[in-house]
Amino acid sequence: MGPVSDTSTETPAAPWWRDAVIYQVYPRSFADADGDGLGDLPGITARLPHLADLGVDAVWLSPVYPSPQKDAGYDVADYRGIEPVFGTLADFEALSARAHELDLRVIMDLVPNHTSADHVWFRQALAAAPGSPERARYVFRDGRGEDGVLPPNSWRSVFGGSAWTRVTEPDGTPGQWYLHLFDASQPDLDWSNPEVHEEFADVLRFWLDRGVDGFRVDVAHGLIKAEGLPDWDHDQALLNGSTASGERPPMWDQEGVHEIYREWRRVLDSYEGERILVAEAWVTPPERLARYVRGDEMHQAFNFDYLRAPWRAGELKQVVDATLQAHEVVGAPATWVLSNHDVVRHASRLGYPAGDEPASGVGPDDPQPDAELGLRRARAATVFMLALPGGAYVYQGEELGLPEVTTLPAEVRQDPAFARTGGEDRGRDGCRVPIPWEGEAPSYGFGPGSASWLPQPPEWARLSVAAQTGVPGSTLELYRQVLALRREHAMGRGALEWDEELTGGDVLAFRTRGVLVVLNLSARPVPAPAGSRVLLASADLVDGAVPTDTAAWFAPS
Ligand code: NOJ
Repeated sequence: MGPVSDTSTETPAAPWWRDAVIYQVYPRSFADADGDGLGDLPGITARLPHLADLGVDAVWLSPVYPSPQKDAGYDVADYRGIEPVFGTLADFEALSARAHELDLRVIMDLVPNHTSADHVWFRQALAAAPGSPERARYVFRDGRGEDGVLPPNSWRSVFGGSAWTRVTEPDGTPGQWYLHLFDASQPDLDWSNPEVHEEFADVLRFWLDRGVDGFRVDVAHGLIKAEGLPDWDHDQALLNGSTASGERPPMWDQEGVHEIYREWRRVLDSYEGERILVAEAWVTPPERLARYVRGDEMHQAFNFDYLRAPWRAGELKQVVDATLQAHEVVGAPATWVLSNHDVVRHASRLGYPAGDEPASGVGPDDPQPDAELGLRRARAATVFMLALPGGAYVYQGEELGLPEVTTLPAEVRQDPAFARTGGEDRGRDGCRVPIPWEGEAPSYGFGPGSASWLPQPPEWARLSVAAQTGVPGSTLELYRQVLALRREHAMGRGALEWDEELTGGDVLAFRTRGVLVVLNLSARPVPAPAGSRVLLASADLVDGAVPTDTAAWFAPS
């Protein structure tokens, strides 16, 4: 097959985001300046040079707004401020100024599907009567059955249990129900209400006025619910855009969401510079996802099909091709991602047999990953990913090869999904453990003392930034090298052309920007092509060949 995508105009003026590498900072676990065990904005600011040295283009901050932290900040009580535990608006401005000085853009996390139950709107809604304008900002409904004792429909929360909670009316009687696709502390907003639109357009302006370069949009496929809220009895564990049989759930990927993003795009386009919107939309197939990045909507969408692809050449190739083709149709760059704060870190996920990679958390009593195999594959996966055309996302700590912490005891786990399912869903805490910077003793430089909101395993001392800096072959140095070469060769602006001779039998090989990229998932070594020299490899070549579970970049010699 010929080139399937050219993601750039090849001019130096091509917008920065089309091939950007965006680094996700999970603020509570990145760096803790004040030593309370929870990361904060001054901590992030002080560590920004690490990100500049790493060679990424932008920083995306998971939510830092005032929040009771019932879902680690994805429960926002005030969209125009900073959570005091993380700092102040002045701290944010200092972070943003320092980032821009270092040539790093700053992306905020916008959470428009739901507010926190502590948001003033929700408090007003609880205090107001059924049918009031205050309730109309959320999805309040009367219950079914006698006296409305049953929830209005059969929807399940993504975190387990019913998606409805019944309120007690101000007069003390059992009352209406409100919808929450996530935790009960995260009531869904009603996006058919113009007031909600006005509020979020204003929130966008608030942060755009403060110089932010864009927004990652949480649950971007969930804002509009199907008319009449019809029952949906399928499992809700995954945020899937459709079932295997192709039925679209009434709460995901509804047509109406696109009008919201067109509205927001107009707001962003009224500002100078290239400010971006990035969809967190768990939507398949790629043609559905690509609808979020049509010319007048968002700029990028996370490619979760890629993240979830099993470690098999055929499936990986299929996802790459389908992604590039679908994005090409709408003229948007593809994106690639392997880890984030919601999934098992890829250094552990890939340590399971291909096809058995766990979707969500792992507990101490579950089958454990093969750590060595996982890291080897993770390095190969990253070297392959960062050669693909388009943008890419890196989750904090993956540049250290951090594994998922699978052994967290139940009593320290904080993900609401763990509690709401009685521990059946192990939750996402294992990928959120604070990262090690230096030193031998906890918190390994995360904070000034030993405090850390989740315990760090003792093995993390040797995985710290300091322990890996300047060490040839360390995962950190591999990331630095691959990001530098990616920039040098403008790999993200390339067009991908499969090498038909080398591709096949669990081997993938493509050319882009004059570089040949080989990923060997087969049991046999793949000899380096004649007349080529190695630019980079995720593991040492053996007798001039790319060994199993290794990726390498070659240039003509
Ligand atoms: C997706 C976020 O990434 C996740 O962490 C959060 O729990 C849900 N959206 C709800 O906001």
